[in-house]
Amino acid sequence: MTTAPIVRTVEELRRHVRAWKAAGEMVGVVPTMGALHEGHLSLARRARKECERVITTIFVNPKQFNNPDDLKKYPRTEEADAALLATVPVDLIFAPQPEEVYPDGFITTVSVGGVSEPLEGRMRPGHFDGVATVVTKLFGMTMADRGYFGQKDWQQLQVVLRLVRDLNIPVHIVGCETIRETDGLAMSSRNVRLTPEGRAKAHVLYEAIMAAATDIRAGQSDRMAIREAAEAIRAAGFDRVEYIELRDAETLMPSDDPARARRMLAAAWLDGVRLIDNIPV
Ligand code: PAF
Repeated sequence: MTTAPIVRTVEELRRHVRAWKAAGEMVGVVPTMGALHEGHLSLARRARKECERVITTIFVNPKQFNNPDDLKKYPRTEEADAALLATVPVDLIFAPQPEEVYPDGFITTVSVGGVSEPLEGRMRPGHFDGVATVVTKLFGMTMADRGYFGQKDWQQLQVVLRLVRDLNIPVHIVGCETIRETDGLAMSSRNVRLTPEGRAKAHVLYEAIMAAATDIRAGQSDRMAIREAAEAIRAAGFDRVEYIELRDAETLMPSDDPARARRMLAAAWLDGVRLIDNIPV
């Protein structure tokens, strides 16, 4: 299997993309920070089905880490990532150095109000500004027609949807289903940091929010169902439940209106690893 060319500069990236576009080909981009797993590959496969050309970007974006230690520890596995992408396959891997993305003098921040503020935005100040800034840049650099994002990061997906709408960025966003392990745990690059004992319990996060969603649909009060979910997660041995919230699926504002699409979102710590998940209610 041949691996896709790894391109480091915007100039070279654009040379490829311009040639594809001149031939009338549709270009899809799958933005990632590497440490790829089946969840990322499913995005790339979807892009492969829908676009003539597929770019995967691999860039550990320093601007979205509010904890410098987390940034330092973030796994960098480019060779293994390229080998996995060859199984899709993708046409090009764009893996720039930080100086290519944020050259000297870089001063612009893209900040999406509203949807960026609660939940992850409150727990990780500056995180979504970093995401919005780099995603805007990646769209500009790749000139992609379609962008593929996982529903696992539901709030991020809503931030990106809002961003492209508000800034008239000509890219169609495709939100793809969360890919889960056989026990239900949402796939994430962080899962490998769990101890075997932690990994064995981690599925409880998903099960607890699923049970809460079922109870709410059956008429139980939101508050009671959420309290029971938090208790189940703590009882399974998680260190801490950071939040479990029922929100409007699009705006992420509190919602007790069952007529609107709602989403239950949760974040909890296990083994010193922060896990997030979400489901429709
Ligand atoms: O979801 C991620 O991996 C990142 O937040 C993204 C979208 C690649 C931006 O750095």
